[in-house]
Amino acid sequence: MVSKDDQKTFQLVDGIAFPLSFNGEVIRSAMNYVAKAGDIFILTYPKSGTTWMETIVFGLLNNGRAFDDDFDYYMKQTPFLELQGKDAVEKMTHPGSITTHLPFDRVPYHPQAKYICVIRNPKDICVSFYHFIKNVPSFGYADNKFETFFDTFVSGKTPHGDYSEYMKKLWPHKDDDNVLLVSYEQMYHDLAVVIHRVAQFVEIEPHPRLLERVLTCCSFTYMKENYDRVRKSWKEKHCSKVELETEQLLEFVRKGVPGDWPSCMTKEQATCLDDIMTEMVKSMPGLKDYWFPGLQ
Ligand code: PPS
Repeated sequence: MVSKDDQKTFQLVDGIAFPLSFNGEVIRSAMNYVAKAGDIFILTYPKSGTTWMETIVFGLLNNGRAFDDDFDYYMKQTPFLELQGKDAVEKMTHPGSITTHLPFDRVPYHPQAKYICVIRNPKDICVSFYHFIKNVPSFGYADNKFETFFDTFVSGKTPHGDYSEYMKKLWPHKDDDNVLLVSYEQMYHDLAVVIHRVAQFVEIEPHPRLLERVLTCCSFTYMKENYDRVRKSWKEKHCSKVELETEQLLEFVRKGVPGDWPSCMTKEQATCLDDIMTEMVKSMPGLKDYWFPGLQ
């Protein structure tokens, strides 16, 4: 049940939650995009490694080119479906990828399109999400307190909906031929392996020099130094003054580590999310291996 208070922080379009700053008509047009054979979608719940995967796919499709080589070109190749709508996707530069936070069952589908899904453990998502939105007035978290956002996250009422619900829609498709599921944690622990898997999935010859180049441009150090900087200067040229006020506050490459949750979460909050995670693992066996790769 959505109360009046909840509605201050998100809007519902066709039953799906979106940030208030997104345009309802654009969202509807996005959901009416007709997927084509050869489309590559990047699917994520927010703060799961979207930008990271976008830059990897971009590098692989562009012979190792770095995102900051020509950010205008990068932006035209990586439309964000529900923020930019169907037209931006239809006019995108190819080869490219389409980013979306839509739940799996609402993402435009074609059997010959490819779907790269990136997931992350919910404790880190919660903390990363909090840092992302805490200073941005249009998200509606005026008090800036972690505990307020934590309650929102746990109740599933974030501007992008409920994490467990998102996972439930995705999980049954994880082994489909046109789906590749990887986790933020796998990317962190062995980025080279993930880049190789993505290359094979998008049918790019995994030449060692190409893989090496993508590894460099998608490293945390490279992205931390360049991504937000070039994005902000691109936005200054292409956004209205109002949009810019929000854009200048957004940070896409922050700390970049798994396990940052104790920096914000109390023991009680961590236990609460542990319980939710335990429930999720019961209905999605194997999920733990994505969240905690290498642990038995
Ligand atoms: S968004 O707003 O949904 O598009 O955010 P998203 O890109 O999904 O997630 C942002 C988090 O990803 C981290 N990130 C990286 N980590 C390691 N290496 C690289 N190269 C990298 N690029 C982005 C980013 O720092 C955010 O995580 P936190 O935990 O906040 O640092």
